[in-house]
Amino acid sequence: MKTTMLIPFTAGALVLAVGLAATRADDADASPNTAQLPPPSTRRGVTYAADIKTIFDHSCVKCHSGRKPKGHLKLDTLADALKGGKDGKVILPGDSAKSMLILNVAHLSKDHMDWMPPLHNKAGIKPLTPEQISLLRAWIDQGAK
Ligand code: HEC
Repeated sequence: MKTTMLIPFTAGALVLAVGLAATRADDADASPNTAQLPPPSTRRGVTYAADIKTIFDHSCVKCHSGRKPKGHLKLDTLADALKGGKDGKVILPGDSAKSMLILNVAHLSKDHMDWMPPLHNKAGIKPLTPEQISLLRAWIDQGAK
């Protein structure tokens, strides 16, 4: 009698253990591997006006400006870029590796729909180069001025 009671219990514990292990693995996937990011540029005094606006103008503002910006995010002024979008702030001054904008342009966000610019956009806008991402990182790390 006792041993037959043990079988369902053991099976239950096994399912629980496997379930926990799977949850752990999912968590690991959820945190992007920021070691894959291009390192921040060593350039000093990087600013929106001098260095960044031209990147955004070329690759982003077609969708991120105007009355109905995609993701409710406008990138055509510094103030709007810092304000963020529908999911909140996309730039964390001083912490480029945790800034959503960087994870999106570097294709480190888990959901491919978050990769920016979108992979097959009709406008034919190309992904940013590692050099451009390095400059964006330096700008954010230096305070996003
Ligand atoms: C062809 C249009 C297009 C271009 C070009 C584009 N984006 Fe986007 N972007 C979108 C769309 C659409 C969304 C909303 C996706 C969603 O709803 O999940 C979005 C969302 C975002 C978000 C998330 C906003 C939030 O709060 O959820 C960020 C950050 C972002 N884009 C950054 C950029 C950057 C930086 C560039 C240029 C390097 C860029 N995008 C270029 C269409 C574009």
